[in-house]
Amino acid sequence: ESYFAEEQLLQGKRVLVTAGGTLERIDPVRYITNDSSGKMGFAIAAEARRMGAEVVLVAGNTSAGEVPGGVSLVRTGSAQQMYDEVLQQLPQTDIIIKAAAVADYRPKQTFQQKIKKTGEELVLELERTPDILQALGQRKKNGQFIVGFAAETEQLEQYAMEKLIRKNCDLLVANNVALEGAGFGTDTNIAKIFDRSGLVQELPLMTKQELASRLLRLVASRIQRSGD
Ligand code: CTP
Ligand code: CA
Repeated sequence: ESYFAEEQLLQGKRVLVTAGGTLERIDPVRYITNDSSGKMGFAIAAEARRMGAEVVLVAGNTSAGEVPGGVSLVRTGSAQQMYDEVLQQLPQTDIIIKAAAVADYRPKQTFQQKIKKTGEELVLELERTPDILQALGQRKKNGQFIVGFAAETEQLEQYAMEKLIRKNCDLLVANNVALEGAGFGTDTNIAKIFDRSGLVQELPLMTKQELASRLLRLVASRIQRSGD
């Protein structure tokens, strides 16, 4: 048993965090996004840095404010751009934390000119985006550690476990976004953390910063146990 000061818990580790929503273009002045503020991912990036990690923050559409000090920021727009960036970073990364709210669908066609209104209805066709977390899970090497997130409004445990297995995550943080104080835009969250064998931690309402700290301490303890 060895003791690690908080500031050294993630020393020597490269941590990649994704945050915020993605932005899917319809035309030069219109797009589809979601309510993700990026606050959870920003808090994780700040905490990981405080714990001694080298941190890359890949951020989509956010309103989370200041980029945490000492963190390298890469801005991305669409799910496809985030996918390309994250997969390129994967080989140099020890810990991946996917807090971003990635669009599941994007317009099938991005119009090069502003769409003009007509007397007719307008039907937008959408197609699936690539699943970044699933792609990471498929490519994960020994010693790499992946944390996924899940936003649910019902059947939280069942959906969370399905995602964890399907995407080959080591941990999954699930939050019921229908609860007051959880989910998009708030400074607080209410989370349950799962691993392959089920529920690991059921956390009460707390700030996103506190949740980030708890999550990263859990990650650090799991990484040390698997030895390096
Ligand atoms: N995710 C991703 N790429 C996508 C969709 C989701 O990397 N195209 C990631 C998210 O960043 C999150 C996790 O997958 O870490 C779960 O996202 P969520 O939206 O809860 O799950 P989905 O698999 O998209 O399923 P659904 O939205 O239908 O519940
Ligand atoms: Ca989704």
